Amino acid sequence: MKSNYLILLVIFLLISCKETSLKNIDKKEVIAKKVDSILSLMTLKEKIGQMNQYNGSWDVTGPPTDTTSINKVKHLEQGLVGAMLNVKGVKNVSAAQKIVVEKSRLGIPLIFGFDVIHGYKTISPIPLAEAASWDLKAIKRSAEVAAKEAAASGINWTFAPMVDISRDARWGRVMEGAGEDPFLGSKIAYARVKGFQGEDLSKENTIAACAKHFAGYGYPEAGKEYNTVSVGVSTLYNTILPPFKATVDADVKTFMNAFNELNGIPATGNKFLQRTVLKGDWNFKGFVVSDWGSIMELQHHGYAKDNKQAGEIAINAGVDMDMESYAYIDHLETLVKEGKVKESLINDAVRRILTVKYELGLFDNPYKYCDEKREQQIVNSKEINDAVLDMAKKSIVLLKNESINNKKLLPLKKQNQKIAIIGALANDDDSMLGNWRIGADNHTAVTVLEGLKKYKGNKITYEKGADVALGKTFFYYDTKINTTDKSGFSSAINSAKNADVVIMVLGEHGFQSGEGRSRTNLDIPGVQLDLLKQIYKVNKKIVLVLTNGRPLTINWSKEHIPAILDVWQLGTQAGNAIAQVLYGDYNPSGKLPMTFPRNVGQIPMYYSHKFTGRPTPLPDPAMVFWSKYTDVESSPLYPFGYGLSYTSFKYENLKLSTSKIKKEGEIKVSVAVTNTGNFDGEEVVQLYIQDIIGSLTRPVRELKGFEKIKLNVGETKTVSFTINADLLQFYTANNTWQVEAGDFNLWVGTDSNASLKATFKVVE
Ligand code: NOJ
Repeated sequence: MKSNYLILLVIFLLISCKETSLKNIDKKEVIAKKVDSILSLMTLKEKIGQMNQYNGSWDVTGPPTDTTSINKVKHLEQGLVGAMLNVKGVKNVSAAQKIVVEKSRLGIPLIFGFDVIHGYKTISPIPLAEAASWDLKAIKRSAEVAAKEAAASGINWTFAPMVDISRDARWGRVMEGAGEDPFLGSKIAYARVKGFQGEDLSKENTIAACAKHFAGYGYPEAGKEYNTVSVGVSTLYNTILPPFKATVDADVKTFMNAFNELNGIPATGNKFLQRTVLKGDWNFKGFVVSDWGSIMELQHHGYAKDNKQAGEIAINAGVDMDMESYAYIDHLETLVKEGKVKESLINDAVRRILTVKYELGLFDNPYKYCDEKREQQIVNSKEINDAVLDMAKKSIVLLKNESINNKKLLPLKKQNQKIAIIGALANDDDSMLGNWRIGADNHTAVTVLEGLKKYKGNKITYEKGADVALGKTFFYYDTKINTTDKSGFSSAINSAKNADVVIMVLGEHGFQSGEGRSRTNLDIPGVQLDLLKQIYKVNKKIVLVLTNGRPLTINWSKEHIPAILDVWQLGTQAGNAIAQVLYGDYNPSGKLPMTFPRNVGQIPMYYSHKFTGRPTPLPDPAMVFWSKYTDVESSPLYPFGYGLSYTSFKYENLKLSTSKIKKEGEIKVSVAVTNTGNFDGEEVVQLYIQDIIGSLTRPVRELKGFEKIKLNVGETKTVSFTINADLLQFYTANNTWQVEAGDFNLWVGTDSNASLKATFKVVE
């Protein structure tokens, strides 16, 4: 075995030597040659081995699969495993790598995947919260430090970013995406891939990214996890696919398919998605991994009669790597021998997988990510924590800040205040880590209470008032997920009575959103709302610090509570970030990436909806026959793009360089924004357009540009946007991307209700 490894090494070295003289030849070609040379040495079985991914058993992130018949270590030794997942830490990664490198015939290194979703050991805000920052630099930086920390711990492949657009807050996994909008989602998807992968994947602090879940996973019927997805061509192309395409533009190295079916065909067995669109139209050169067990699940969908047929369908549909279905390792060889699967498909898949391994530098040094000293220096270091804190502050959204007796509650005064802090989540060091924190240690978040205590000038009291959730593990929820115990109410009420300000930290526990956590009721869970109402009776000066993994229906709070801060689940540095915002050391700048509905019945609810044939109230709004609800307003509780600041901004002087362009022309748009308040602050300037008449009906408005700017008190800046064909085109009735001639409306402003308006025309 060893001698063959040596032969391989010699081949690599020969090619490497040649490399210098081939300087002008594209690096990709060099890698392609190396890959071909190794491919030619591999048996069919070894090739299939590269397409096989096993869970490292140190941690399991899906329904446990029956592994009793398989000796995974033996398979590693035999070169029958190409990738692992959930092996964490340099010690464990090098141990697994050592087995394949030293014992398998060809010693092809493993690639180690892990769900580095929002941080590895040091947890950054949940992705939905990061999206609320609308700060692409900060989001990229967050992915960059997550990659650095994970890479220092042996990981070289993350199963992120999740780029599924979703408009259904019942779906628990909205916490993992960038929200409802394809334009914002695409920009964020691009930034995240660039953050994880950097400019040079062969560096020791960058890792391969994975765009997931291809495709439609964010559109489950009734918001129920893993449920059926039925969408038309227009929604698929204009809404669901753009963020995926953006990751391909960012050179993402891998894709993960999805658990759901799409229009009758499970995504994992979907040839149209994986071969026609991804590998065909988009020319994606990386590899596609299945989701956990999703090949095997083709049987449950009623799409394959057994695991063997599931494997056949999956490889033919374009799935290059099988995560924990055992379909490839058990059946692919037979399927090739039976002529049901062409060996050329296997070669293509393996070529893709080996290419990514080469690009990561694993062939040069399989232990590249395994330096215990580096692990100690980087994991949980100040650099990572600083970046995570910065991201956390930028992710917070100020939903309301009204005056009581002519004074706003926020920012808090720093001296001589009696502050009553109430709510179990204020003193919780775990919930803020969110749902995806398998690399982190539990109970490592800075609590809100700890963050606030760092400000010494005020007198603080704390009362829990009520528990939030009892089920607090990744795998299981307690059936009594929310307690009904009100025994803590009276001491909480007493503490609130004489306080100058009451800070109530309420909302969802981190494990109440995420995969498998769909909900049909989006109110603040348990008895927390009751507690809020009781406290309100004795003291109206309440700041509600809402923690959540998705939009919640907070109608009562919006109506009564003077100040509301949406802090999502902010990660390790949560308490510090929240305290700095509450005290005004950071002026909140976040904007909602998802619409907040008034009630669950309005869902799916999103700003870029269509008009319908009866869109606006008839002259007499009591008339029945127009598109609306009879029991609730049609508008949302908080619109997409909404978020306040401690200061205020004025928009004026909206100018267009021309009001008429050809389809391939461009318009420069400019607007002056002034900080008219008393605090320096940041604003996300948003641009929306409406294509008034189309070959397919168009949304009432669509985000087509945004820029986050900083303005000191009194300062004015002119913000410019360029409108061009890239922004105007859509997937038309001709089933192609086109700009259509006609009239357009344009708005610029502070959220999706922006009213500063202009019009322009596109001509042939
Ligand atoms: C299932 C999830 O859907 C996917 O996003 C994740 O990456 C895999 N499990 C691996 O943990």
